[in-house]
Amino acid sequence: MNFISKLFGSSSNSKYDLGQLEVDMHSHLIPGIDDGSPSMDHTIAMLAKFEQMGYRKVVTTPHILNDVHPNTPQSILGGLSEVRAEIQRLGMKIEIEAAAEYYCDESFLPIIERNEVLSFGANYVLMEFGFLSPSQYEAQALFNLQVAGYVPILAHYERYPYYFGDFKRVDALRERNIQIQVNLNSLTGHYGPGVKKMAEQLIKNKQVDFLGTDCHRMEHLMMIEQSLSMPIYKQVEALTLKNNSL
Ligand SMILES: [Fe+2]
Repeated sequence: MNFISKLFGSSSNSKYDLGQLEVDMHSHLIPGIDDGSPSMDHTIAMLAKFEQMGYRKVVTTPHILNDVHPNTPQSILGGLSEVRAEIQRLGMKIEIEAAAEYYCDESFLPIIERNEVLSFGANYVLMEFGFLSPSQYEAQALFNLQVAGYVPILAHYERYPYYFGDFKRVDALRERNIQIQVNLNSLTGHYGPGVKKMAEQLIKNKQVDFLGTDCHRMEHLMMIEQSLSMPIYKQVEALTLKNNSL
């Protein structure tokens, strides 16, 4: 380490390379069907940014949330076809697939029962919970998904305050082949200091299976890009992540 980097820290020249993840598996890129991208132009701009950051593929995951975002495989896959047509027209290289981010409430169980679940990779299903209190449907949904042959991924596990600090629970979940996803923007402090701390500790404990952008807008990708020289990424380097298996 030379004098200047001793003085100012050497982090500026050691940026984490998102390209090693290869695939992002949590985003809201289908225009106009949830609280994510508002237009095809915005979607294309975000996909260009993904490409520039080194990703080869995104698995986008629109919300399926009861009456708030009442998406179906038809609305999601229809939107996906339109995005793919635009990517092709523009000659972009990035690949895009779609699944969903399922909100775990009473409306999720019948979706599993009807075998209407959108999965990706090795039968992965992304699901999320409310931020105020645990879902009374969590245990049943996880059980039913696994019986049906799916591998649940718990979206942004660090964002649920009622699970803050309970790392034994994380071990117990992962022992049952339930996967843990952390949002990259949790490391930037975007969701507050408690979430940041939980995300950092999950990473230090090596209790993370997937990292996701969860980008709804271009700003989310810009924040991530600007954060890549933070010291926590040294610990991220030490994780065994499954993004690149997708
Ligand atoms: Fe999301």
